[in-house]
Amino acid sequence: MSDHIVWHDHKISRTERASIKHQHPCLLWFTGLSGSGKSTIANALDVALYHEGYHTFLLDGDNVRHGLNRDLGFSNEDRVENIRRIGEVSKLFADAGLIVLSAFISPFASDRRLVRNMFPAGEFIEVFMDTPLATCEERDPKGLYRKARSGEIHDFTGIDSPYEAPAHPEITLDTSNLSVDACVENLLCYLKERDLLK
Ligand code: PPS
Repeated sequence: MSDHIVWHDHKISRTERASIKHQHPCLLWFTGLSGSGKSTIANALDVALYHEGYHTFLLDGDNVRHGLNRDLGFSNEDRVENIRRIGEVSKLFADAGLIVLSAFISPFASDRRLVRNMFPAGEFIEVFMDTPLATCEERDPKGLYRKARSGEIHDFTGIDSPYEAPAHPEITLDTSNLSVDACVENLLCYLKERDLLK
């Protein structure tokens, strides 16, 4: 970054922006293997919050890679940059007063920590989709595990690229034994208990 760039404070704070929507900004960060249910659960929570009148925004792996991050692949270096950019974008949406849902494999603990540290305490909620690899591989909704096993694609998370499971996630969900509705209920309870939903 150039030495000649100066930070400008906004006149209206994120709390003020959020208060006209009667909500508390926060980031729900869904992390887990491909096929673990990140997008499904994040979308279902998004719908539930929308119907309760909350202003949310959903950022999701495949979609962001079609646009903002179309220049990035799946090397470790690119995944680090992917999550750094998404962390910054998530923060911008939270600064706009929204409840943000971000669903990315985000395999490295240090990257997730970097995003956590962008947020005030309690406003970063790590949701670990702890669905076993065997279940994800059996689901294989995009046929990518099959391609990774046959060597057609490389650096696939859980097969030939690592996934570092969160040590202390705020919420852990295993979609091999929890329904979509049960996961959403779990998340809504967490948000209500912590006064993040009014
Ligand atoms: S990461 O690791 O956080 O940068 O990945 P993310 O941006 O979430 O993108 C994951 C989706 O990209 C598809 N895909 C792959 N995933 C993992 N490894 C490799 N090599 C790969 N190639 C393509 C895959 O569909 C992921 O989507 P989800 O929703 O997780 O299944």
